Amino acid sequence: MEGIHKSFPGVQALSDCKFELRSGEVHALVGENGAGKSTMMKILGGIYDKDAGHIYLDNKEVNIASPHMAQQLGISIIHQELNLMPHLTVAQNIFIGREQRSKIPFILDDKAANQETERVLDLLNLQLSPSTKVSDLTVAKQQMVEIAKALSFNAKILVMDEPTAALTETEIDELFHIIKQLREKGVGIVHISHRLEELKQISDRVTVMRDGKYIDTLQTKAATIDQIISLMVGRVIFETAPELPEVPSEEVVLEVRNLNRGKVLQDINFSLMRGEILGFAGLMGAGRTEVARAIFGADEYDSGEIYIKGRRVHIKSPGDAVTCGVGYLSEDRKRYGLALGMDVKENVVLSSMKKFLNRFGWVDFKKASMRGQEMIKALNIKTPSLEQKVKFLSGGNQQKVVIGKWLTANTEILIFDEPTRGIDVGAKSEIYKLLNDLARQGKAIIMISSELPEILRMSHRVVVMCEGRVTGILNAGEASQENIMKYATMRSNVVRKN
Ligand SMILES: Nc1ncnc2c1ncn2[C@@H]1O[C@H](COP(=O)(O)OP(=O)(O)OP(=O)(O)O)[C@@H](O)[C@H]1O
Ligand SMILES: [Mg+2]
Repeated sequence: MEGIHKSFPGVQALSDCKFELRSGEVHALVGENGAGKSTMMKILGGIYDKDAGHIYLDNKEVNIASPHMAQQLGISIIHQELNLMPHLTVAQNIFIGREQRSKIPFILDDKAANQETERVLDLLNLQLSPSTKVSDLTVAKQQMVEIAKALSFNAKILVMDEPTAALTETEIDELFHIIKQLREKGVGIVHISHRLEELKQISDRVTVMRDGKYIDTLQTKAATIDQIISLMVGRVIFETAPELPEVPSEEVVLEVRNLNRGKVLQDINFSLMRGEILGFAGLMGAGRTEVARAIFGADEYDSGEIYIKGRRVHIKSPGDAVTCGVGYLSEDRKRYGLALGMDVKENVVLSSMKKFLNRFGWVDFKKASMRGQEMIKALNIKTPSLEQKVKFLSGGNQQKVVIGKWLTANTEILIFDEPTRGIDVGAKSEIYKLLNDLARQGKAIIMISSELPEILRMSHRVVVMCEGRVTGILNAGEASQENIMKYATMRSNVVRKN
């Protein structure tokens, strides 16, 4: 790709960008949130038209006018925001738009589709039934279905826009194994990720973008992570571990007693103190998000008690939760966190409307705008204006808007579910600082994270879960990578395949 320009209303997303991919290489594409990575790849995938520039495939110029055409040219893209149809099955999602027809015309051959799906899932070492509905899968599993879908096209070029953001270590290992196999078969792979250590491990070359511009392409082996970061941000940043603030008192703000929901949550007990950051660690599917959803009133539970400041509460809906002072920053911002069709300012005030009504009960737009502006500045949200619809922001900037929303709601208890997923290095340390500030202000924070270094660095105590149970609650002193993993895999006497 050469001389690529692309602008959106109010944004020059790409100016004079280039990108080269060889067959049989893994090429990492990095840059801060909003740098233009996804836009570049969407042009390659025929989703956006470029304003100017050239694309060559095997030295022949091509005009990629539609996603369908990209597919025919052997280009498969796994998008940052998952694109599956939740009400369809795994197999139907994989074959959508090119269903295997049976001998009788126009009747979908589910059997053939299921068989082919089985084959691709096997390749991925995925234990999933082709006939499972996608809406019943976790984000991680949905991600794997996207990968399976891309693989089933026998792509020559495979673009993965943050494929690992939602995956566990084991799942990442499996994915890398597959990437290596594909590389050996001569597939060219573009890997976009904010996890630089991971890129170091898997990629052959790395291209850096900044502010819609091409910066440089390096041989990964010869480059250091610090060097890549300074190219990304255009300056040297010193990442010093933030000092965890002291927990001021032993004042319990939230207490969960004997919480049960089917097999998903079994006898969950823990308490959360004022000014405390309580990390929740565990493998994907351990039940951490389910605990959060139960507290937040997003799911009903079968039995158990929840106390806020010693008072028993019955939270039946997210609305109740906000009234009781609980905010939840969901791991799946598209589904639960954002009103994508609304603009930045509206999203920021969405959960705290009451504060933005004037004495006639109308929304005070000036006040809302001021708050929006404050959040844009505090969180460094990259948007052309307050009036930009959130769906047009880059993935990481959408995440920041969700954070802005909950900061504005100013609830006393905040649950952050994978708060730094998809967030670039610079913004990540901003979010860590922010969590610390919130704790210092006396908020009680639950932080669910699949990144152990983040858990270790940011938590006063760590609750470890495995298969719907709390298997350990560790003090900062006891918590280590090994120790957490030990509890995270402490299965009950369930016999498992594999
Ligand atoms: N459809 C669109 N309409 C308007 N602006 C857009 C659209 N798509 C992207 N942009 C803007 O273009 C710029 C580049 O966005 P892009 O999504 O390519 O960033 P990115 O590098 O993928 O970031 P992230 O790491 O956060 O995913 C951003 O400023 C974004 O807001
Ligand atoms: Mg992106």
